[in-house]
Amino acid sequence: MRDTIWQLRYATPDDLDAIMGIETATFTSDAWSRESMAAELANEHARYIVAFDAEEADAVAGYAGLLAPRGGTDGDIQTIAVAETARRRGLGRAMLAHLVDVARRRGVRDLFLEVRADNPPAQHLYHSFGFEKLAVRRGYYQPDNIDAIVMRLRIPEPVTTVASNEHAAAHASAQTAHDATAHAATASTASGPEARA
Ligand SMILES: CC(C)(COP(=O)(O)OP(=O)(O)OC[C@H]1O[C@@H](n2cnc3c(N)ncnc32)[C@H](O)[C@@H]1OP(=O)(O)O)[C@@H](O)C(=O)NCCC(=O)NCCS
Repeated sequence: MRDTIWQLRYATPDDLDAIMGIETATFTSDAWSRESMAAELANEHARYIVAFDAEEADAVAGYAGLLAPRGGTDGDIQTIAVAETARRRGLGRAMLAHLVDVARRRGVRDLFLEVRADNPPAQHLYHSFGFEKLAVRRGYYQPDNIDAIVMRLRIPEPVTTVASNEHAAAHASAQTAHDATAHAATASTASGPEARA
């Protein structure tokens, strides 16, 4: 089987049908209405993306949304869903990584989300990004009466410091030594564990 190359782009109102197709198939008891989804796509403080296989650009395979009002430091992952046939192939991770990056560039320091207590796959995904459990909202998801777990990812403010020239020179020579060692290790274990994705 060929490796899938996922492509992401910003969602537009023209994507509404495709998004609602995945939404209603995925969230069978608590799908958002078409009107709510349309309002999300049109919200100037939100950023929605859709994803597709590079070889099937017409077929939306997933979508995800971020709410991050400009000028604020809080953001929310509003939703994320991958079509059932496209799951476990890295798309959920790719979309979440992109939205975390958008949030960072918008100045978000605390990124929140809610996830159903009966949804371990999504919880695993969020944990693997460093989201931590913050609170539980009892019976938040109706009509199923399922608790919501509120999670937060802290996005540290980038800090830039000025290195003294002496310090920078020492670092440069240490880095050269490190590079030489790493290169030697790679050369001696050509197919070894250094080759990470
Ligand atoms: C949650 C969801 C978006 C993940 O998308 P995906 O493309 O299948 O996820 P990925 O292939 O990128 O997997 C990323 C990680 O998610 C976790 N994960 C995904 N599916 C999982 C499963 N069935 N069981 C356990 N962990 C799972 C794993 O940590 C995985 O990392 P790994 O492959 O290194 O183990 C997808 O399962 C989905 O659309 N679910 C239905 C909608 C939903 O629940 N949305 C979340 C609402 S809060």
